[in-house]
Amino acid sequence: MPKNDYLCGWKTINRPEEQDMILEKIERLKAEVAGLTAATAEEAEALRIKYLGKKGALSELMAEFRQVAAEEKKTVGMKLNELKALAQERINQVRQSAESASEVSDGDLDLTRTPYPIPLGTRHPLTVVRNTIVDIFSRLGFTLAEGPEVEDDWHVYSSMNFAPDHPARDMQDTFFVESRPDVILRSHTSSVQSRVMERQQPPIRVICPGRVYRNEAISARAHCFFHQVEGLYVDKDVSFADLKQVLLLFAREMFGPDTKIRLRPSYFPFTEPSAEMDISCHLCGGRGCSFCKHTGWVEILGCGMVDPAVLDANGIDSTIYKGYAFGMGIERITNLKYQVKDLRMFSENDARFLAEFQAAN
Ligand code: DAH
Repeated sequence: MPKNDYLCGWKTINRPEEQDMILEKIERLKAEVAGLTAATAEEAEALRIKYLGKKGALSELMAEFRQVAAEEKKTVGMKLNELKALAQERINQVRQSAESASEVSDGDLDLTRTPYPIPLGTRHPLTVVRNTIVDIFSRLGFTLAEGPEVEDDWHVYSSMNFAPDHPARDMQDTFFVESRPDVILRSHTSSVQSRVMERQQPPIRVICPGRVYRNEAISARAHCFFHQVEGLYVDKDVSFADLKQVLLLFAREMFGPDTKIRLRPSYFPFTEPSAEMDISCHLCGGRGCSFCKHTGWVEILGCGMVDPAVLDANGIDSTIYKGYAFGMGIERITNLKYQVKDLRMFSENDARFLAEFQAAN
């Protein structure tokens, strides 16, 4: 670099042909950098030092740049910055590909692996609805309780006040183990009521989702297994009005704020009085349509005040405590919400069916 300009007292000294030389160098280096390759991480590091290191090609150019005439600094500076960015980017690329190449040696390259990205799945509609139900009741102070699917007669029937020969048992025929007749698959989640009460004194406020089994021929409207959610509240001074209020709130959260409910007298061995709850048909708004069979109402759950015999059988003093309970089928609620026509679709695992619930996820 000519130093004589210091003698003249000028700040910058480069003559136009020297500036052209710097620009030429920049262009040459750009082309060089663009073609860099490295087989190993060490080679990539050597390239970094060569171009971007303290004594590297770019530092040299910076030193020359300081000599460039002020009016040319902007143009040359921009070119220099471009070169620096390019060099950094290229050397990073080269290092990354050298590193990943060394991670996969020929020996463990899995050629059977799909080259296509595996798409993110969606939650099963029954899971979505179960989570919504549990969420609504959690906000009302209910906690989650679970029990075994492989149960015994006591928890499924006897402790729930089903007399040994009562015809209510036939309505919930399940699967038995031949060599151990006492072992059965639970036919309803009401068995979890018994499981909770036998180990906990009131106040009890639980919500129990789970799979249940019934000995039924499989069709569009019945399956040998399905899912239920059970609710149980036991405390002093629990009334039917409390039950009704909680269920109304649930129905409105689940199906919309205009939903109406109606309770019809019914029979379950474990509740007295017992009721079945209908909601106003949310498809026709209660006016009547083919979905609600032109009644304006659709049934969604069973409920009632816990029979004192159930409390006593499960170690809770029925002279002090009262309770309410309810149980609903998750498939049923899902059908109402999404109009799934055939129960079998829930367990066929057809990805096209499941993908339809993307928005619900
Ligand atoms: N366990 C009943 C069934 O599977 C549903 C049910 C009805 C549960 C009334 C309850 C209840 O807790 O109070 O059909």
